[in-house]
Amino acid sequence: MQGFNVAIDGTSGVGKSSAADLLADANQMIHLDTGAMYRCVALAMEEAGIDPEDESELQSLLDTMKIRFEGRRVFLNDREVTTQIRTNRISNLTSRIAALPAVRARMTGLQQQTTAAGGYIVDGRDIGTVVLPDAAIKIFLSARPEARARRRYDEYRQKGIDADYDRILEDIRQRDWQDSHRSTAPLKKAEDAVEIDTSDLTLDQVVTAIQSLIDGAR
Ligand code: C5P
Repeated sequence: MQGFNVAIDGTSGVGKSSAADLLADANQMIHLDTGAMYRCVALAMEEAGIDPEDESELQSLLDTMKIRFEGRRVFLNDREVTTQIRTNRISNLTSRIAALPAVRARMTGLQQQTTAAGGYIVDGRDIGTVVLPDAAIKIFLSARPEARARRRYDEYRQKGIDADYDRILEDIRQRDWQDSHRSTAPLKKAEDAVEIDTSDLTLDQVVTAIQSLIDGAR
């Protein structure tokens, strides 16, 4: 849909990305996963051994790195990193480097350029507040930390990965704290966003609720 963007913000593990994927398919729109972009920056910084305090090295990395999506696959400098950016270590590192103003400025610019013509479902932390303050529809997804930790735990177990529920819960709390207490573009609900608590909802129910808002705005 030309000229029409949907912003979906919320905490980690709240189901933003899964909902955005389904909504993009159903509405012939494109899902822009901004968390994956920050994850690519974290991976690139780690691989290049860049000290976050070294502003000029960081800036040149930000100016030269290339992030590309092919459907749900993510490429960093033309190398596929779809699974590599999802490890727990990169998740925790991402939350730290996402607080750096130079990183936020570069990612915000890229996200605004990409979505300028509309037709995007954009998920992240600061989309409704900073990146797309004029988005036609703004959603803020929330869920109790325990519900989010349980989902992630079940996901790991289904994939046959060993998981520790308490550890996952602790990581989620830590990332929530870091994301909502940074001084640049902290996670917060835009005043005009519609909040949906997904703790006791299925993914289908969340998608249906957002779809009815999209239908109403058409
Ligand atoms: O959404 P996802 O969990 O993949 O995001 C990873 C991290 O990237 C978040 O914990 C947050 O620190 C950062 N992020 C951000 N702003 C966004 C999207 C993600 O700061 N718009």
